[in-house]
Amino acid sequence: MTEQLGTMEELPQDYRDQMAAAGVAPLWPMMRNVLPHNAPQAVTRLGHWSYPAVRPLLLRAGELTPVEKAERRVLVLSDPGRGAGAMQATAAIYLGLQLLLPGETAPAHRHTPSAARIVVEGQGGYTVVDGERLPMEPGDLVLTPGGEWHDHGHDGDEPVIWLDALDLPIFVQLEGSYAIEGTLQAQRNRPDASQVEYSAVGLVPSRRPGRGARRYPMMRYPWAATEAALRQMAAYGEGIAELDYINPETGEDVLPALGFTAMMLKAGQVEAPPLRSCSSAFHVIAGTGRSEIDGQVIEWGPKDTFTAPVFARIWHEAESEAFLVRIHDRPLQEKLGYYEERAR
Ligand SMILES: [Fe+2]
Repeated sequence: MTEQLGTMEELPQDYRDQMAAAGVAPLWPMMRNVLPHNAPQAVTRLGHWSYPAVRPLLLRAGELTPVEKAERRVLVLSDPGRGAGAMQATAAIYLGLQLLLPGETAPAHRHTPSAARIVVEGQGGYTVVDGERLPMEPGDLVLTPGGEWHDHGHDGDEPVIWLDALDLPIFVQLEGSYAIEGTLQAQRNRPDASQVEYSAVGLVPSRRPGRGARRYPMMRYPWAATEAALRQMAAYGEGIAELDYINPETGEDVLPALGFTAMMLKAGQVEAPPLRSCSSAFHVIAGTGRSEIDGQVIEWGPKDTFTAPVFARIWHEAESEAFLVRIHDRPLQEKLGYYEERAR
């Protein structure tokens, strides 16, 4: 294996000019950029968005820009490795904090990328997906998979803020990202599927042959149920309690490209996961602590969000009892056949 490949400068200028004119380029000077040895070279850098710092900026957006002028009033969390304005937090994950004020609605649309939101604060917000009204309580995970109509509304009297997570960067890279606009949907007059069809673990609606479940049967994962399950695991398990959000009919991840994992750390508990080939974003539901990511230490508190690049060396320590949701692109990497975990 040759360590040093030939460079562009070693080639005569007339040859370089002729290649450029012909629309070709030599691979060897650039090959290590796209095929580095042993592990990918991450562009993504650790990002940490302190909620107390971002919240006032988002509320000011509510004063400056009416929702009609914004359609979705969002501050995008830009990956420091790609710079301010980057429409992504890692290579595969887009994150944005969205504000909806009392009485506002965000019009219906559907798009090719899939989205999920984690509710950060406020009562009375709701999302309508395919006619199903999904209440948005703090900590809830609400899905709007690709191709599904969705709009948002707000019946409460305080601002509602949520964190949007999308696989948008992949669709942009594929030149496959677009949205179709629609009118506000009529809402079915019944609670959402998490309260009706999937209210108990291990039970799904009985079906006649040939009548399959919807591809995305459950769009809302109430935080109250997740927290209760984590506490139960933490009471009897060893290590930290971790639960993956899954499609209750198939057992698969909730979205095609993105996965979501809820974590509970007791006060003083330390977590040092293996090096994973996927990138991660951590959203703090509650609690305080610190994390070291590739040698950089951050202190986090409730409602903060931070990211870690692919193959990051991650270490968390909870100061107080903490609940986090890890957003990751493991499902995409598994479908592409290269998800991997390496020992530290
Ligand atoms: Fe959307």
